[in-house]
Amino acid sequence: MKSLAIFAVSVSLASAMCHYGTNLMPRDVGLERRADGDFGYDELHSALGWHGLSPNNTICAVGKNQSPVNIKTDEYEVVDGASYKFDIVNYPHGAEFLNTGHNVQVFANGSAEFDGTKYSLAQYHFHTPSEHRIGDEYYPSEVHFVFQNGNDLAVIGFMIELAGWGDRINWPISKSLAKVLQIPSGGNKVTTAALHFGALEHHIRKSDVYRYSGSLTTPPCDEGVKFNVVANPIYIDVKTFRNTKKVIKFNSRYTQNAPGEVNLLDHARIVLDKL
Ligand SMILES: *[C@@H]1O[C@H](CO)[C@@H](O)[C@H](O)[C@H]1NC(C)=O
Ligand SMILES: *[C@@H]1O[C@H](CO)[C@@H](O)[C@H](O)[C@H]1NC(C)=O
Ligand SMILES: [Zn+2]
Repeated sequence: MKSLAIFAVSVSLASAMCHYGTNLMPRDVGLERRADGDFGYDELHSALGWHGLSPNNTICAVGKNQSPVNIKTDEYEVVDGASYKFDIVNYPHGAEFLNTGHNVQVFANGSAEFDGTKYSLAQYHFHTPSEHRIGDEYYPSEVHFVFQNGNDLAVIGFMIELAGWGDRINWPISKSLAKVLQIPSGGNKVTTAALHFGALEHHIRKSDVYRYSGSLTTPPCDEGVKFNVVANPIYIDVKTFRNTKKVIKFNSRYTQNAPGEVNLLDHARIVLDKL
């Protein structure tokens, strides 16, 4: 129960800061840290009801540029990953790895430069299963690198696939998760194994990237988030995946309507009103 006290502190910090506070320290920027209300992934606290948890979450139910989406590959902007300067600081002695209660996340510094703007890394965190789908297909997991430039947020997302015989395991991501069983509950933290990001930087350079304007995938679902979904998946070993799933369990928002189309909840409301 000690973890609840930790959460009470972080929730009040988060709400005191307002959504896009201009001077957020990197560790205060999180896709879930600014959430108002006790959101979750089941029953009345699930993504079907996030809008009801706080007046600040209304856009979750009416926004027309919500994430995640099913990326129909011929309908989205595609950019060459080589145009990204993706530069994450190496942590030979490990970095902080925290179970936030909604996901597991690593606090690392770094930057990404694309489309003429340079962003600073705040943290990266994991979802099981993937939130985005690419050409209808989902993946066992997805990692979101969350970047900030002033009030602007950008996310670079990588699909995580299970390594089969002969697949090259992506070590920066596998090692990020290696100690996940040591942080089974919200508030738990540990220092990761040594992290060197060269293999991940190499990966994005060799892949296409889908780009669209979306939203936070957790309340308050603010829009204007620049999403960059790397087309080629990265691989982790099966055991690391199983351990990750055991700890995270399920933390994916359902697939939203295509950008610009009516929000699915708003659509459901219109249909229900006619019954
Ligand atoms: C809505 O957001 C504002 C600004 O961040 C915050 O002050 C307020 O407490 C939030 N309202 C609720 C009901 O959480
Ligand atoms: C990130 O950089 C800031 C500013 O240089 C520093 O204070 C902080 O400790 C760094 N955090 C990590 C996780 O390296
Ligand atoms: Zn996320």
